[in-house]
Amino acid sequence: MADTRDKITTLSFTHMKKKGKKIVWLTAYDYYTARALDDAGVDGILVGDSLGMVVYGKKDTLSVTMEVMLPHTEAVSRAVQNACVIGDMPFMSYQTSDAEAIHNAGRFLSEGGAAGVKLEGGIEMAARIRRITEIGIPVMGHIGLTPQSINKFGGYKVQGKTDQAKNYLLESALALQEAGCFGMVLEAIKSDIAQKISQSLEIPTFGIGAGSLTDGQIVVTNDIVGASGDFVPKFVRRYFDLGAKLREVASQFAADVRSGNYPSESESYG
Ligand code: KIV
Repeated sequence: MADTRDKITTLSFTHMKKKGKKIVWLTAYDYYTARALDDAGVDGILVGDSLGMVVYGKKDTLSVTMEVMLPHTEAVSRAVQNACVIGDMPFMSYQTSDAEAIHNAGRFLSEGGAAGVKLEGGIEMAARIRRITEIGIPVMGHIGLTPQSINKFGGYKVQGKTDQAKNYLLESALALQEAGCFGMVLEAIKSDIAQKISQSLEIPTFGIGAGSLTDGQIVVTNDIVGASGDFVPKFVRRYFDLGAKLREVASQFAADVRSGNYPSESESYG
C-alpha cells in the first residue's frame, strides 16, 4: 500500500506546535533501525553523537568525529521516507570558527543527506548558528545538559537549578530562536524552566529529561529498547530488554549448533 503520510520537514515542527500536536523524536545510527522508526511514524530521527557511547562503547561523546558521523547519517537518510533526519555535529566540528562550522554543517546535507544539523550551546553559540542558518542550513539547538561540555559541568548533572541558571537557559533559548533555529533540545533541566521556555518560544522544544511540558520528546532509542549500558537515567522508560534477548538468542543458537540441531534439512540446500 502506498505511504500517504507527508514528508516532514524542519518547517513542519512549528506547525505541529501551533496545532498542539506532540512531536516525537528518536535516534538512529543504522539503516534498518531508521526504517523501523520511520515505519512506526516518528516525526524526526536524530543521528546523535550519542552513537559514540551506544554504538562504539565509548565513555562519552567527545571522541566522535565527522568521519564517524557522516556514514551513519547517510545510511539513516537513505532509509527514511517521511521523518525529518537531522545530523548531530560532533565535538570540535563547529566550535573553532564560522568557516569550519559552515563547512561541516554543509557536509551533513551534501554527504549525509540530512535535512539539517544539531549543535550544542546557548547564547554564546547564537552568532555562529545565525551564520549557518543564514546560508540555508536548518539548525536544531541544544541547551541544558550539553554532553560535549561534561568536563565543564563536572559530569552529567541536571541544569537550571538556580534562578541564575534558569535565566541563562531562557536567554539562551530566546537567542537561539532569534538566530534561526527551527527547534531545540532541552536536556536534563528542571521541568518548571522547561515549561517556561516552551511557552516563551514560537519554535518547538524537544525534551529529554525535561518533564512532560515541552512540545515534544526525544530519547536515545538504544536506551528505551535496552541496548545501552547498565546505567539507566531517571527519565528513561525501558520498553524492552534487547541485551537480555540477544544473550538468550545467542545461547539458543550456540546450543543448537553444538547439539547438531542446526541446520536442519529444510535449512540446507540439499
Ligand atoms: O546525541 C544524542 O543522541 C542527543 C540526543 C540525546 C538529544 O544529543
